[in-house]
Amino acid sequence: MSQQPVLEVTGLEVNFAGKKKAFGRAAPIRAVKGVSFSIQPGETLGLVGESGSGKSTVARAVMQLIEPAAGEVLLKGREITALRGKELRVTRRDIQMVFQDPYSSLDPSMLIADSVGEALEVHDGLRGHERDARVAELLELVGLSSHHLERYPYEFSGGQRQRIAIARALALNPAVVVCDEAVSALDVSTQNQIIGLLEGLREKLNVAYLFISHDLAVVRHISDRVAVMYFGHLVEVGEVSQIFERPAHPYTRALLSAIPIADPLRQRSRKTAMLTGEIPDIVNPPSGCPFASRCEFASGMCREQMPEFREHNGSSVACHHPLQT
Ligand SMILES: Nc1ncnc2c1ncn2[C@@H]1O[C@H](COP(=O)(O)OP(=O)(O)O)[C@@H](O)[C@H]1O
Ligand SMILES: [Mg+2]
Repeated sequence: MSQQPVLEVTGLEVNFAGKKKAFGRAAPIRAVKGVSFSIQPGETLGLVGESGSGKSTVARAVMQLIEPAAGEVLLKGREITALRGKELRVTRRDIQMVFQDPYSSLDPSMLIADSVGEALEVHDGLRGHERDARVAELLELVGLSSHHLERYPYEFSGGQRQRIAIARALALNPAVVVCDEAVSALDVSTQNQIIGLLEGLREKLNVAYLFISHDLAVVRHISDRVAVMYFGHLVEVGEVSQIFERPAHPYTRALLSAIPIADPLRQRSRKTAMLTGEIPDIVNPPSGCPFASRCEFASGMCREQMPEFREHNGSSVACHHPLQT
């Protein structure tokens, strides 16, 4: 039963200007290459990959915070990369973001009532008591209270500040919230509380999440499906059980084998496929599969030709030699 996706990203490319050399032109950095995925209403898609793989760049391009070089971003079926001004502002109600550092979304010099209420004023024209009543509702929704309206961000713990950032993101009833390492700076027990909160909010509000994290354990817990990123490319997308129990891409398996297992006996006997070798140079990318230089299965074809995405054992994988599981 497939509905219209809330978010559909097709062929997304993002380039940054590279460092200028003494002579000649700066080579562009191709940070995101041909990334496509979609998210259904109320679904959580986890986006994982090592640091520098392009996850935040995908998030920022989807949010229209940076301009993609190519590709489409459809929000509830509407292309948004070409929108500007008022049209963009109105459409953007439907997609909001929570960052790792709540100070990226909360101005430290603003009262919580103003930070959380800002969008309500700008978009809905709510003022005074009316605005504060709605902010109080939002604070209660995230497990805080109306007592917190007249306080500043520094008066809260890291976990509470993340709750406030979530309240702010939810103010306009978005269809999608992009969480970029939203729990990564928190201790494990606070992480679990915030993840529990996000899951509860999803049930209540049917909001969808693009949940970005380098932490696979967290992603496994919260996601319905998972997309794995390597060197600016998506390499595998599948159901969470598929990805974690029967990964098809050698990179996915290597990434999983880097998660420690609590049981030392199992940890020792586990077939390891640790990550060795170097990530390619982003300024001089290889022509074939970007993982070939680190992959034990790489053949001549892998070094020459970028693999296309194809269905394999229920997940979608970009690999010439997917794992037989
Ligand atoms: N503003 C920028 N200018 C130049 N390069 C950037 C910029 N932002 C990110 N990059 C580069 O793009 C790549 C992807 O970065 P990023 O999206 O932050 O990765 P991740 O979030 O997965 O850690 C990295 O090589 C990074 O150095
Ligand atoms: Mg990042």
